[in-house]
Amino acid sequence: MDMAYMMSSKIFYHPDIIKAYLKGNTVNPITVKIYLTDKCNLSCNYCIYKDRVGNDEIEKTNIIPIFDSLKWMGVKGIVFTGGEPTYYPNFNEVVTYAKKVREFDLGLITNGIIYPDVLEDLTWVRFSLDTITRSIYSKMKGRDKLQEVISNINRAIEERNNRKLSVTIGVQIVVTKENYKEIIPFIEYWNLSYGVDYCQIRPIENYRYTEEEWDYIHKQLEEIDNRKWKMKVMTTKYKWEELENDYQKTYADCPGADFIGSIDTKGDFYICCTMVKDETAKYGNLISEHPDKILDNRKDIHANFDYSKCPVACQGSLMNKGLVAFKKLQHSNFI
Ligand SMILES: C[S@@+](CC[C@H](N)C(=O)[O-])C[C@H]1O[C@@H](n2cnc3c(N)ncnc32)[C@H](O)[C@@H]1O
Ligand code: SF4
Ligand code: SF4
Repeated sequence: MDMAYMMSSKIFYHPDIIKAYLKGNTVNPITVKIYLTDKCNLSCNYCIYKDRVGNDEIEKTNIIPIFDSLKWMGVKGIVFTGGEPTYYPNFNEVVTYAKKVREFDLGLITNGIIYPDVLEDLTWVRFSLDTITRSIYSKMKGRDKLQEVISNINRAIEERNNRKLSVTIGVQIVVTKENYKEIIPFIEYWNLSYGVDYCQIRPIENYRYTEEEWDYIHKQLEEIDNRKWKMKVMTTKYKWEELENDYQKTYADCPGADFIGSIDTKGDFYICCTMVKDETAKYGNLISEHPDKILDNRKDIHANFDYSKCPVACQGSLMNKGLVAFKKLQHSNFI
C-alpha cells in the first residue's frame, strides 16, 4: 500500500463522509465541477473537450435551481470549468451568488484571457497557461494571446496582495509535443515572480509520448524533485506513473465516484468530468428533478457503469487508490 496516495487524498478531511461510505450508506458529493458554458475563446490543439466545445451554455434562470440542488445535497466545493467559464455572460454574478448566498467554496480553472474579476470569492484560481513562449502559445492555443494572459496573472497577484485576499493562485502546464522541453524554464519563470503560489505540471491525456519525449520529461521531473522552489511545484506524479505504467489501471471500479460529480450546461449531473455526455453515467437533471432522486439514482448508475472505459490518470484515480487501500486496512487500533 502506498501511504503517499492516502496521505495526499483530501477526501480524508471528511471523516463523517468516509464513515458513511465504509458503512455503505448514501454519501453526498463533496466537490463538483460545473460547465457554465461549452463556448471558448481559444481553440487549444490538445483540448480534451474539443468535441464538447460548442455553443451551449446554462440558461440564466437555471443557475439558481442548480446551486440550490447542490446545496441541498451537501456539496461543499464547486469548480468552474468548461469551455471557458469566464466567457459565460453572467460569470461574475454567478460566482458572487454561489459564494455570498450559497456559501460554497469555489475554484476556477481558466485560460486567463478574460480577467477573473471575482478573486475575493474564490478559494483558488488556476491559469491554464502551458508555455511562456509566444510562438508555442499561438501554436498550442490557436491565438496570439500569451502577453495578455501573463498580464492578467500578474494583475491577479497584485490584486490579491493589495487587497490581502486569501485566494490561491496557480499556473498550469499541460505537457504536449510542443512544450515538453519547456517544463523547467516555465517553473523557473514563475518561481522568480514571487507571487504565484503553485505550478502544476500535468501530462496530456489523449496522446502517447514518444520515447524521446519521455526521456526529456523524466529528466525534468527528476530535476524538479531535486531542486528547491519558492512556490509549490505539483508534478501530479501519479498521473505520469499511471500513463507510463503501460497505461494499466490498478483499480476495477470507481469508489471515488461517490464524492465527486460534474454538471453540464443542461443541468445534467454525471459521475465525473470524463463521463459528461455519457448517458450511462448520468444521474439525472438538477433543474427538472428533485436532488433526492438524483442521489438515489447514483447507486444504480455506479453499480451498472462499465468502468473499463475509464482512462488512466483520471480525476478519480488518486482518490480511488486511497479508498481501495483504506478499505483493506485491518486492526485499526494498532498503528
Ligand atoms: C477543458 S479546460 C476548461 C477550462 C479553461 N478553458 C481552461 O483551459 O483552463 C480544463 C483543463 O483541462 C486541461 N486540458 C484540456 N485538454 C487536456 C488534455 N488533453 N490533457 C490534459 N489536460 C487537458 C486544460 O489545460 C485545463 O486546465
Ligand atoms: S481554453 Fe480550455 S476549453 Fe478552451 S480550448 Fe483550451 S483547454 Fe479547451
Ligand atoms: S473516469 Fe475516473 S473518475 Fe470517472 S468514473 Fe472512471 S474512474 Fe471514476
